[in-house]
Amino acid sequence: MRKEIPPHGVFHTAVCAERRRLPYGRGRAYADSHALPAGKRSGMERNMTVLVTGVRGQLGYDVVRELEKRGIKAVGVDVQEMDITDAASVDRVIREVSPDAVIHCAAYTAVDAAEENQELCRKVNVDGPRNIARVCRDLGIKMIQISTDYVFDGSGSRPWEPGDACGPKSVYGQTKYEGELAVQELLEQYFIVRIAWAFGINGKNFVKTMLNLAKTHDTIRVVNDQFGSPTYTYDLARLLADMVVTDKYGVYHATNEGDCSWYEFACAIFEEAGVKVNVIPVTSEEYGAPANRPANSRMSKEKLTENGFERLPHWRDALHRYVAELKAAGI
Ligand SMILES: NC(=O)c1ccc[n+]([C@@H]2O[C@H](COP(=O)([O-])OP(=O)(O)OC[C@H]3O[C@@H](n4cnc5c(N)ncnc54)[C@H](OP(=O)(O)O)[C@@H]3O)[C@@H](O)[C@H]2O)c1
Repeated sequence: MRKEIPPHGVFHTAVCAERRRLPYGRGRAYADSHALPAGKRSGMERNMTVLVTGVRGQLGYDVVRELEKRGIKAVGVDVQEMDITDAASVDRVIREVSPDAVIHCAAYTAVDAAEENQELCRKVNVDGPRNIARVCRDLGIKMIQISTDYVFDGSGSRPWEPGDACGPKSVYGQTKYEGELAVQELLEQYFIVRIAWAFGINGKNFVKTMLNLAKTHDTIRVVNDQFGSPTYTYDLARLLADMVVTDKYGVYHATNEGDCSWYEFACAIFEEAGVKVNVIPVTSEEYGAPANRPANSRMSKEKLTENGFERLPHWRDALHRYVAELKAAGI
């Protein structure tokens, strides 16, 4: 369902959404507080074109839906239309679309597999944003680069500030950090938005994994010594759509509000879904995942407030809406 091949060239996601029969905005009070009525939209929004990478992933899919809802022309691409590791392809597609901004959501996101696939991961997560940033620089286009809490080393318990020193502990985290540096070296008009523990309707994520595991297991072991904040890509897409029309450039953190451990997140998922299963808290060491992950992934979102951006709702509220979205979509 998630990987259909587009019929031609640059892929427009209005088509994609229609084919997938995924639901558009049901019961979303939060949604409606953001979307401006057509008459109140600025000329800039109405005339803007935004190129969105990773449209067949979780975030890219929701970003295109959100932009379209606001009347902003969104052109969604994925690896078939624009392989971000191929500089010539990136150059050709961006020039062809001629956008006002690029929201770069594509990435190599398999954190554990990255430990074994360093070369590919680096190509996608470092060369990819560098290729995009070069064209954005040459054409004077702004860029939003999506990054991750895994750029931090996870020490302490204080929420990380955007300006804190990075110290990634995994191949994935290291390459995302290098991707940030590549964008910062090439561009002045950039946003770097670090998110964490993402879940959305279109793709694989922890919530879907937990619900699927519960179909075949009575007991599920979940790590209880890593703390962070989940990010509903639907909510994040709205912030990115707010951001892209501004020039408030810089590094930001953007997750849903509140924090939890993966174990607490799992318990909440089963509570929301009304699923009975025995959840056992374990340490990262006991769980033994191939990639190291930060114990403290909490990130401060104060900078969003300081710059007049509306922060995302609490993660429990987001999870409640997401489980309803899954049910409505029959997933
Ligand atoms: N998921 C999370 O929990 C999480 C947490 C923190 C930060 N982030 C960041 O948030 C952003 C969005 O994540 P997501 O969860 O939406 O990712 P996702 O669902 O894995 O989607 C990423 C998309 O990028 C595509 N892609 C991979 N290689 C590509 C290439 N060479 N050229 C063009 N497209 C390529 C993928 O295609 P294939 O599937 O075919 O490879 C996929 O459709 C990423 O920057 C990610 O690093 C994610």
